[in-house]
Parts: sequence; structure tokens; C-alpha cells
Amino acid sequence: MTNKVVVNADVSKGIINKNIYGHFAEHLGRCIYEGFWVGEDSDIPNTDGIRNDVVEALRNLNIPVLRWPGGCFADEYHWKDGIGPRENRKRMVNTHWGGVIENNHFGTHEFFRLCELLDTEPYVNGNVGSGTVQEMSEWVEYMTFDGESPMANLRQENGKSDPWKLKYFGVGNENWGCGGNMRPQYYADLYRRFQTYVRNYGDNKIFRIAGGANVDDYNWTEVLMREAGHLMDGLSLHYYVHPGGFWNKGPATGFEENVWDITMEKTVYIEELIKRHGTIMDKYDPEKRVAMIIDEWGAWYDVEPGTNPGFLYQQNTIRDALVAGVSLNIFNNHNDRVQMANIAQTINVIQAMILTDKEKMILTPTYHVFEMYKGHQDAERLDLNIESSTIKIGEKEIAAISGSASKAKDGSILITLCNLDKGEASDLMLDLRGQDLSNVTARIITADELDAHNTFDKPDNVKPEEYNQFQISGSELTLQLPAKSVVSISVK
Ligand code: AHR
Repeated sequence: MTNKVVVNADVSKGIINKNIYGHFAEHLGRCIYEGFWVGEDSDIPNTDGIRNDVVEALRNLNIPVLRWPGGCFADEYHWKDGIGPRENRKRMVNTHWGGVIENNHFGTHEFFRLCELLDTEPYVNGNVGSGTVQEMSEWVEYMTFDGESPMANLRQENGKSDPWKLKYFGVGNENWGCGGNMRPQYYADLYRRFQTYVRNYGDNKIFRIAGGANVDDYNWTEVLMREAGHLMDGLSLHYYVHPGGFWNKGPATGFEENVWDITMEKTVYIEELIKRHGTIMDKYDPEKRVAMIIDEWGAWYDVEPGTNPGFLYQQNTIRDALVAGVSLNIFNNHNDRVQMANIAQTINVIQAMILTDKEKMILTPTYHVFEMYKGHQDAERLDLNIESSTIKIGEKEIAAISGSASKAKDGSILITLCNLDKGEASDLMLDLRGQDLSNVTARIITADELDAHNTFDKPDNVKPEEYNQFQISGSELTLQLPAKSVVSISVK
């Protein structure tokens, strides 16, 4: 069957919030330490302790927003441990992740410096689980109050006279689990209380994000929206793809062939979650004022053999390129409610953009997909319809083709397509109604092996290439999408 994609280039579906291309960095494994932070005395080239190679690579993705310090770590983090002279900072145990020493060398000042270097918006996640209202309130005062106050004075003593700008603040994380094992009624009340003291100082207006549901816990969303929806700007949702389930996730490489299909099925499932949580949100917020913030997502596998099980270090293959491409298409296509998403996590943890080994660094297939899709950021989504063949997975069937399209401010169009099929190429007819096709270019990322990946010895094994296997006739473009490929088409 020839699959068909129709893009109505003159039908706008609203702006794709650039924050859908957001990232997440937790004090977990080698994400912050070794990944971002090496310290000023390191031989690895750095700026104020932050790796230059990593900053340069991430700047190329135009990262719009970075969430920190967790994750589960957020509800154990006491921010005052991470300020002041580094040599005096408290050494503690990162009990949740690997039981290693956390020396607090990367704290609030270092995080904001990182955001400056990346030219990205900071998203700070506060501690509800083991913190106090006062502690949270003082952190916001420390970061954003301009003038004379105990926390602003403390910040000045620590070398920062002007406050930072902080827009996004999360009131707890996974409060149904590592963030306190709470019931939704209890957390809804705590959310109401804590957020009261997350103040807007001067012209710094905070966008308050409530801790949302785990996967398909629709009752959590119902209770939170009913009891506290009017006091929040965003409600989070967490969803990870675990091919073998949470307790038996399966390896990142060397997986069985059928696991590819299971991974794809679990990837597209996020669309059902968005729709169903979105329907509940619509009931209480038909104007869609409250944003859905998918601030943790990605494919989470077993750790690489021989590595600390608490560090969540995994390889990243062409399968992950598909997970990223398909998920981002889904988020784009739900831009009416999904206003932010933060893939977990930026470096060396879960579905990372970058892997490091001492002074070496490699870019993953997932990184390349984020780079191929970056033109969607803040672009107008275009109406796109797909008639696709399907892939059968047991009783279930999923579409083999995924796509989304957008028009940037300069009028250029970006169409991103994925072929989820592991073995079959797809002949595709793309009709770009109302569009001149005299200037079309395309890029592709694909591989022969199901688990093709980059290594420190072969860093460019999987990377995007120019793609010219297409023909144009009028407004129609015919092309072949190879098996397991992500293709970006740019029309100027
Ligand atoms: O990203 C790893 C962990 O997954 C986060 O700390 C937590 O929020 C989630 O369970």
C-alpha cells in the first residue's frame, strides 16, 4: 500500500510551544556531575566549571527550557546545602540514586550559570516531600527578590547582586511516589498551601506547575484539577517507555526483534494518555488555560552491564531515534494542551542526548532527532492527515507512519515523518496543498541494525544524512521512507 500524507499548508493549528523541546537534568548518576559539571580545576575545557563541549553541542539544539534538580532528587533537595563557598558545602548521600556522595558543588548559582551558557529558560523543581513551605518560599525569594530581604541579602553575600529571572517552578515531583507517597486529595491540599508562598516578586511572574499523574492514573488528574486547577498554570504528566515493564525493562542494545514493535506500541500509547488526561482537564478548564507539562518522558531500559544500577546509564540506538521522533510528532499534534515536555535526561541518564566518558563525548541518535526537529519550535502547526498501513503487535495494531508539520515565521515548512516499521520501507505520497515545491530538501536518520548506535570509537555510526530519494510533481512529493527511519523535509 502507498501511504498518503496530506498537509494543508494554509490551515494553521496554532503555535507549537518551543518548550515541547525541553530537557531535564537531575542529580542522578553522571548527568550533573561529569556530564555538565567538571569543576573549574578540571583538565576538561570548561567555563566556570561547566563543560564547553557539552554546552556547544546543546546550544545547537536550541534547548528552550531545562528542568532541575529532579526528579526524585527534588523532594530530598535542600537548596541551602548548595550555596556559598563550595569547600564549605555539605557533603551528603544521594540516597535515591546510587548512594553516592553528593558534594553540593552544583547548586542554584551553578544551575543559573548553566542556563545562561545554554541560553535556556530555567525550570526549578521545589521540594514538597521532605521540605517545608518556608524553605520553598525562601528559595523563590533568594532567586527572584530584588531589594533588601534576608534571602536577597544572602544571595548578594554569595556574589549575585541582581536576582535571576525564573519563570517555571514545580511544586513537588511524583508526589504519588518518591515525592511523598501521597494520595491525590492530600497532595492537592499541600499544593494549594505551598503554592501560596511561591511569590511573584517585582515583575518576575512564576508559572506554577503542580505534580501530576503517573501514566494512566486518571483519578489523580481528576482530583488535582477539581481541587486545585484554579491555582495552577501547569499540571505535569510522567510517562516512560519500558518495553518489558518497569521491573524488567530489557536491554538498550541486543534486544529481540519483537521488542522493537513493543517499544513502538508503548511509544504511541502516550497519545492515548494525552487525550484521556486532556479530556479530564477540559472538564474543569475548557479554555485550556492549564498547560499539560510532560516533564519526564523517554525510553528507559536496563542499565549498561557493569554500571551502577542507581545511575541509569543506558545506550541509545536507532530505536530511540524513533521513540523521540514519534513522541515529538505526537506532542506537536497536541499543541493545544501540551505546552512543555522535558525528555529524561540530557546527559548519561535514560534517553540521553549526550554520553560522556571522561574528556570524550558522543551525540546519540536521539540528539540528532532533536536537531532535525528544532525548526518546529514556536512554529505554526499545519493541518496534517495520514493514511497509513499498520503494524500488528499481538492483538493490537498501530500506524506505521507518524508525522507532523509546521510553518516557521520566515514561511519555511518543516515536515517530520517516521516509519516505525522495523523491516518494511514505505512508499509515501505527500501532498502539500497550496505550496510551491521548487525548493525542497530532506534529511534522514536510519540504520541497518535494529540496535545501531554510536560509541566512543565510532561516534558517527548513526547520524543524519542528506536524503534525495524523492520526486516532485505539482504539489505532490513521492518518496520512500526506509524501514526504521526518521525523515525531515524542509520546504522553502
Ligand atoms: O528520571 C528518573 C526518575 O524517574 C525521576 O527522578 C523520577 O521523577 C521518575 O520516577
